[in-house]
Amino acid sequence: MTVQSNFSLKKYNTFGIEAKARQFVAVHSVEDLKNILQQNLSEPKFILGGGSNMLLTRDIEALVIHIDLKGKKILKEDDDFVWVESQAGENWHEFVLWTIGQNFGGLENMSLIPGNLGTTPVQNIGAYGTEIKDTFVSCEAINIATQQMKTFSKEDCRFGYRESIFKNDVKDQFIITSVVFKLTKRNHKINISYGDITKELEKQNVSAPTLKDVSNAVIAIRQSKLPDPKELGNSGSFFKNPIISKENYEKAHALHPEMPHYVISETEVKVPAGWLIERAGFKGKRFGDAGIHKNQALVLVNYGNATGQEILNVSKDIQATILKEFGIAIEAEVNVI
Ligand code: EPU
Repeated sequence: MTVQSNFSLKKYNTFGIEAKARQFVAVHSVEDLKNILQQNLSEPKFILGGGSNMLLTRDIEALVIHIDLKGKKILKEDDDFVWVESQAGENWHEFVLWTIGQNFGGLENMSLIPGNLGTTPVQNIGAYGTEIKDTFVSCEAINIATQQMKTFSKEDCRFGYRESIFKNDVKDQFIITSVVFKLTKRNHKINISYGDITKELEKQNVSAPTLKDVSNAVIAIRQSKLPDPKELGNSGSFFKNPIISKENYEKAHALHPEMPHYVISETEVKVPAGWLIERAGFKGKRFGDAGIHKNQALVLVNYGNATGQEILNVSKDIQATILKEFGIAIEAEVNVI
């Protein structure tokens, strides 16, 4: 375990932003993690997973701890289900592909989401009608201040749309070290209700899709809409889809009758931010090296040498315009550092 100084984080964030860590260390075991926390009790610390959901707007004047814990195992199984535990540093998509290879069902709709497994519960990642909370059983986490391990059950995590306790009540207090998922071994709940998946499977002439078919369809859709961070720096959806009151929605809808929406409850409606951003004229626009992706307006991109501040400025411009034109406030989904 070597601590390095003045370390470039460019390769450690999928936006590909150049920013420096005052100090940087990668940990490969929970023991190492405990030791490094104990040895640096009074130091400011910054925890880094896969770097796929953050925008760095400055250098990090802290000890950056990169969670590189690897490994996965089957904890138990019965005829119908299997309980799989994976360490936090596993790449999410590789883990999903491994589960599909074992014929374990539940994660296939979340294929190709960038980032590491340990941060998936933090924002309850989701795609194409499935969220992590649907298969999540529990996670182990280390308390940064005391180095005690704690188990968080699904109820403890208080999952919501891109929300959990880790973004709220216990923000910055714990590091997730492993996660347990309960997956199906048979009678898989194939979920192709999300329109794009049905269309993609029809295109591929698949009528009774397997887990692999669903995964392949999701991969094809994502590849057609979402840029590959290895080719074009990005952090997936930059904004959350706003959930607004019915009255607010009705006001906006009166002016824009073609606005898509999903009813959340009797009083709330969700509106796709991608549609709002496209309507406001931002889709595909470029400001220096910062821009809005041409196929999915919810994704901001770095064409090469954009600074975090430049991308943040573009995001603020978008927010102000949407508020002015539609009376709707949209908030960032990525963590702005
Ligand atoms: N839309 C537009 N223009 C755009 C993008 C979208 O009009 O440029 C409209 C679409 O026509 C559609 C609606 O917005 O009516 C929804 O679009 P889409 O199905 O692409 O999904 P999204 O709401 O934009 C969310 C997630 C994605 C996830 C997809 C699929 C959030 C913040 N984003 O995007 O997650 O992959 O659904 O389930 O909830 C991520 O979080 O990083 C991410 C990529």
